[in-house]
Order: sequence, then C-alpha cells, then structure tokens
Amino acid sequence: MSRLALQICRGPTCRSLGADDILKAVRRKRLQDRVAVSEYHCFGRCEAPEGLCPCVKLGDRWIFNATESMIIQAVADLPDTRTNAGETEIDPFAKYFAD
Ligand code: FES
Repeated sequence: MSRLALQICRGPTCRSLGADDILKAVRRKRLQDRVAVSEYHCFGRCEAPEGLCPCVKLGDRWIFNATESMIIQAVADLPDTRTNAGETEIDPFAKYFAD
C-alpha cells in the first residue's frame, strides 16, 4: 500500500521561515515511516500577498504557515493502515496495479 505524500517546500522564503526545522522534526519523529517525505523547490505560494510560507502539502491538503507541531499532528491524525505495530496491511490487489 503506498504511503501518502508529504511534500515540504525548501524554497528560500519557506526556508527562511522555518522549513528546515520542519524537515528536521519530520526526520526526528520518523514520520517518513508513515508518509512519503519529499522536498520541493518552491510551490510558488511565496508570491501570495497574505504570506503562506512555510508551505507543506500532505496528500492533496495544503498546510500554510506550517509549523513543526502542525505537521506532526497532521500526520498523527492520518488513519492507521497498519494491522499490528510495525506490520503493514497487505493490499490484495496491489499485484494487479504494479508497474
Ligand atoms: S519558497 Fe516555498 S512556496 Fe516558494
């Protein structure tokens, strides 16, 4: 079963407002075990006059003015797909959709 994407903007505006701290917290809390963490060069949201940075995208959900605790909580609130601790549920149809 694929993990939900967690994209963290590492563009200059987001970095100056704490994106690096968010990424460190994500790694420290081992959120990469639950979501597929990636860095994004710039979502282009730094152009918004209302100030949206740091920007993070969890699946199709935007998290603006993100903080470490907001991201940790957003991942913690995801439904648990594991059947037992450390055991990932096996998708019986995965073989039909493998590329
Ligand atoms: S630097 Fe993050 S949206 Fe542009």
